[in-house]
Amino acid sequence: MGKINIMKSKFAYRLILILAAVSVLQVNAQQANDEKAERMQWFKDAKLGIFIHWGIYAVNGIDESWSFYNGYISYEDYMKQLEGFTADKYDPAEWASLIKGSGARYAVLTSKHHDGVALWDSRYSDLKVVDRTPAGRDLIEPFVKELRKNKLKVGLYYSVLDWSHPDYPNFTGDKKRYTDDPERHAAFTEFNHGQISEISKKYKPDLLWFDGDWEQSAEWWKAKEIRQMVLDDNSKAIINSRLQGYGDYETPEQGLPVKAPESEYWELCMTMNDSWGYQHNDSNYKSPSQIVRIFAECLSMGGNLLLDIGPRADGTIPQEQVNILKEMGRWTSKHSEAIYGKNAGLPPGCFYGPSTLSADSTKLYLFVNGKPAEDQVMLEGVKNRINRIYVVGNGTKLDYKEYLRPYWSNHSGLIFIDVPDEVLDDTMTVICLILDGKLELSF
Ligand code: GLC
Repeated sequence: MGKINIMKSKFAYRLILILAAVSVLQVNAQQANDEKAERMQWFKDAKLGIFIHWGIYAVNGIDESWSFYNGYISYEDYMKQLEGFTADKYDPAEWASLIKGSGARYAVLTSKHHDGVALWDSRYSDLKVVDRTPAGRDLIEPFVKELRKNKLKVGLYYSVLDWSHPDYPNFTGDKKRYTDDPERHAAFTEFNHGQISEISKKYKPDLLWFDGDWEQSAEWWKAKEIRQMVLDDNSKAIINSRLQGYGDYETPEQGLPVKAPESEYWELCMTMNDSWGYQHNDSNYKSPSQIVRIFAECLSMGGNLLLDIGPRADGTIPQEQVNILKEMGRWTSKHSEAIYGKNAGLPPGCFYGPSTLSADSTKLYLFVNGKPAEDQVMLEGVKNRINRIYVVGNGTKLDYKEYLRPYWSNHSGLIFIDVPDEVLDDTMTVICLILDGKLELSF
């Protein structure tokens, strides 16, 4: 009897220990989630960012770094572009005002692409525009200042792989410097971490946009240490996903996701034409209205768009890109209430177009593509009563009719909303439905 009691109490004691450990783990996980949510909030609300690929590749107008890696130009000839990178018409105030005007809330500038050419005065390398190009100065600092003046968040792109560094294993697609050499690896790590620490300390970016992680493992990069280093400098910094598992958000590239990515936080990075950097031969620009439509799809799935521009070697921004930024600005400022701080909209099947939802879930925004058939759009699956429908950025009240909602049914009706020609936006019209409470779906 006594033995059984002892066993029972041992069991109870173990159970208590296990339960205590589980609840400590749960509390820790909750704290980590809260900490992340707080850190990510500005990013989640910002919706639009501008990516800037600026480097010596703009001189010839060729693929950034990849052109020598893939053998389209020799490494020596690629590096000759250093001589033509003048930045003599670079006007960071103008850049920042264009970005601000587009409705973007942050920008991400390439501090160093895979070619290893640093846009700042790095003490870890002499491959930098300060010493090796006619630009002859730090190009990051004045831009960061202007962004901050305009209350825009500062992002810096940094390629962890460096095809120019003598101690980095990979050089071109068919030439490797070494495969296994702990000493050279250590030398490269010192350089790489050194440069990251430099930009992190000097410019205190709100966002670090790493790239090129695919060539090595997290262990090889010492990715955990990189993350820690960045967060030690600025506990609020955000890190993109390209750090072999040590980032904060997903970065789908070029392809617009058809379904929302798994991660709560994500950003589609996309070029305006087919090139990241400036290429005079590439005139395959998407139209401003196509870009707005892509942007609206991102919003509808709760993501951001990081839209790329590629300034010329002298620092001027091509007119086609300026035009797109301006049209984005017109559209985003007219429809700002449907964009910033809003959440993903309706699940598929309810409305044939993108949609967003206010943070308190009581306002539903429908994005109307072009002129709807019979000047009406159709909405299904929303159970709420509608208090009012109006056109965003213009205020006009819209009429609607609800069908298929007999008095005895608890199901949602089928709603047809009038969207007459007079209220149509040239690019994309947005209408707001004020619901009688939080959005309730009938399925
Ligand atoms: C890719 C490319 C690079 C480009 C980047 C932008 O990783 O390597 O050239 O800068 O995507 O997302």
